[in-house]
Amino acid sequence: MMARLSFLLPLLGLLTVPAAAVLTISAALNVIEYVPLLTTSEDYYNSSAIFVNGGVAPLVRNSSIDLGANAETQALRNYANNTSLRIIWNIAEVPYRLVANRAAGISSLSDLKGKRVGTINGTSAGYFVEQLLKTVGLEYGDYQTIAGNICHEAPCGNRTFPDMLARGEVDAFGIWEPTLQLGIDALPAGQTVVFQDRKVYREIYNLHSTKEKLADKKKRKEIVVFLKNLIKAQRVFEEEPEKVYARVSAAVNVSVPLLEKVWRVHDWSGGIPEDLVDVLGEEEKYIARVDNRTASSREHVAKMVDGSVLVEALALLKKEERRGEGHGKEHGRD
Ligand SMILES: *[C@@H]1O[C@H](CO)[C@@H](O)[C@H](O)[C@H]1NC(C)=O
Ligand SMILES: *[C@@H]1O[C@H](CO)[C@@H](O)[C@H](O)[C@H]1NC(C)=O
Ligand SMILES: *[C@@H]1O[C@H](CO)[C@@H](O)[C@H](O)[C@H]1NC(C)=O
Ligand SMILES: *[C@@H]1O[C@H](CO)[C@@H](O)[C@H](O)[C@H]1NC(C)=O
Ligand SMILES: *[C@@H]1O[C@H](CO)[C@@H](O)[C@H](O)[C@H]1NC(C)=O
Ligand SMILES: *[C@@H]1O[C@H](CO)[C@@H](O)[C@H](O)[C@H]1NC(C)=O
Ligand SMILES: *[C@@H]1O[C@H](CO)[C@@H](O)[C@H](O)[C@H]1NC(C)=O
Ligand SMILES: *[C@@H]1O[C@H](CO)[C@@H](O)[C@H](O)[C@H]1NC(C)=O
Repeated sequence: MMARLSFLLPLLGLLTVPAAAVLTISAALNVIEYVPLLTTSEDYYNSSAIFVNGGVAPLVRNSSIDLGANAETQALRNYANNTSLRIIWNIAEVPYRLVANRAAGISSLSDLKGKRVGTINGTSAGYFVEQLLKTVGLEYGDYQTIAGNICHEAPCGNRTFPDMLARGEVDAFGIWEPTLQLGIDALPAGQTVVFQDRKVYREIYNLHSTKEKLADKKKRKEIVVFLKNLIKAQRVFEEEPEKVYARVSAAVNVSVPLLEKVWRVHDWSGGIPEDLVDVLGEEEKYIARVDNRTASSREHVAKMVDGSVLVEALALLKKEERRGEGHGKEHGRD
């Protein structure tokens, strides 16, 4: 099935003739996690979807935006201001990693007591570092957090985490990829120790829309078709990444060899994670604290998750696969 679909991918572009921009999508246009959206637009919409740099924040502020992608952290932050926000699908799950310098006397997590840890407060990375260190009893204040920047290519510049680790300006750092991998690569082999625990934290990078968009019949139909095609695109990301490395590389300026190293950290299987509401309920406490507001209940944040679009997209996909028998002609109607 997958091989057949991927073989058809280049062809689908030729068969798809949308009239105008179907959807406007907001995402941080420099993260690996967003690229399946771009691939979907290129392969099934003749690139007619419009991308704006942002995430869920613009989605709830600007009614010309239909979809937004972000980590669960930003979803909670924006849901607090606008309960119209809806999570409709998971694009990627990424168990973040923390890299430490053995030369700073670190070989286990508890050695991070009193150390300088690079991260970005109030983001998924800040939450990850806090959760990970809590597992060994280290609370905020038992270590120092230091701000820095991401990097996509060596040599990493001043104030980027990999460079700060190499210069000894931080003893460790925790953030998303590929910056983390570049930190590992910045020190001699064997001098780093890497910590990762999917059960403690993995980024849940989701696709979102709003209650209003989903209540608009015509718009909802477009979103369902888009999600159906995104599911197909993500199958390629998950099962045949070699087919997309070059395109991901071009989209986010990460070299193919570096992408290959970090690919296994990304899970593109999609769906809506079973424990999503539990994760949101817990993480809400952190976001509320960082944003100086009272945390909402698990029941309240649970209403952000809307699985109904996925049900419709899967039904559409099933129908398409039944009648298409792999010839791909029907895709042109999308
Ligand atoms: C894609 O869109 C461009 C611009 O509208 C158009 O010129 C081109 O023919 C389209 N290609 C296909 C394969 O539909
Ligand atoms: C990738 O690099 C090119 C050339 O330097 C630049 O124009 C583009 O904005 C970069 N894209 C991203 C997502 O950083
Ligand atoms: C929340 O977002 C929706 C959708 O963009 C918008 O219609 C609504 O006015 C927003 N509400 C607030 C309070 O900003
Ligand atoms: C809303 O988004 C559209 C599409 O990207 C953009 O053209 C417009 O300038 C935005 N409006 C505001 C007020 O930011
Ligand atoms: C939420 O709304 C308040 C009041 O309008 C504003 O001060 C705050 O910056 C907003 N928070 C976010 C995360 O957008
Ligand atoms: C994160 O926030 C804490 C508490 O507000 C502060 O002490 C710390 O310096 C901040 N760290 C970074 C990396 O900004
Ligand atoms: C980095 O910092 C060093 C010393 O602080 C300085 O000499 C160098 O010019 C900086 N490099 C860049 C690219 O800013
Ligand atoms: C929360 O309050 C602290 C201390 O009053 C302040 O430093 C910080 O900037 C505030 N954060 C936000 C997101 O408003």
